[in-house]
Amino acid sequence: MRWDPARYAAFSDERSRPFHDLVAQIGREAPRRVVDLGCGPGALTATLSERWPSARVVGMDSSADMLAQAEPLTHRHPGLSFERRAIEDWAPTPEDDVVVTNAALQWVPTHTELLPGWLAAMPSGSWFAMQVPGNFDSPSHALMRAVAAEGPWASTLEGVLRADPVLDPAGYLELFEDNGFAATAWETIYAQLLPGEDPVLEWVRGTGLRPVLAALDTADPSGATTAAFEAEYAERLRHAYPAGPHGTVFPFRRVFAVAHRR
Ligand SMILES: C[S@@+](CC[C@H](N)C(=O)[O-])C[C@H]1O[C@@H](n2cnc3c(N)ncnc32)[C@H](O)[C@@H]1O
Repeated sequence: MRWDPARYAAFSDERSRPFHDLVAQIGREAPRRVVDLGCGPGALTATLSERWPSARVVGMDSSADMLAQAEPLTHRHPGLSFERRAIEDWAPTPEDDVVVTNAALQWVPTHTELLPGWLAAMPSGSWFAMQVPGNFDSPSHALMRAVAAEGPWASTLEGVLRADPVLDPAGYLELFEDNGFAATAWETIYAQLLPGEDPVLEWVRGTGLRPVLAALDTADPSGATTAAFEAEYAERLRHAYPAGPHGTVFPFRRVFAVAHRR
């Protein structure tokens, strides 16, 4: 399942704000190594190099398309590098003083099982900062599941949309504290004002709808089934998120946790 960096970048202001809100809570000075898991196109990872110029900053991602965008940034940031790797295959090194992961662990359903092992391997004084969307029950995602289950594409899409792998803030707080980290966790609902026609559809095309689009395009390469799905879904989204005089308000809940090893 491919990522499209250009489509992902369409709402870069809205998508980058939670990253900045997240890393603002990291209290570490002069880390040796900083890892950004699921770094995407890398522009946000580069800001970590600007914050900690003496650190080696490594962005990791499984998408070759995303990393192709990221790679040129290394010319401007001497400590910055990128690696192609699945988060599931990563383990911290003894120098990983800061780990950041923004809007990526929701794609790793096993992340709550992996976290205790990661945390156990991190050095003392290290920090782990994560943000995941908490929008599984929002109309955008509930309608996606409803349209997927109801249309002629139902059998193609069976099992394509995952169960919610994300905890509430209290769940992450306990997970970090259970594993020897002092944690803070919170949630924020961003009232995002999106321009243009069908902007919520355009938003999810860049992220949560991708597995559906990939399955439909594979089953019907003509694109007709994909177009029919999107038309039905867009119609329902327009009712759930009506366009107003200033644009379309798309509330988006995000869950944050930032913790440091005692
Ligand atoms: C929504 S983007 C977030 C990108 C970036 N962190 C940001 O905040 O803009 C999710 C990223 O996670 C990556 N990703 C998803 N599943 C992954 C996995 N299992 N291993 C590594 N990267 C993964 C995708 O390739 C994509 O670049």
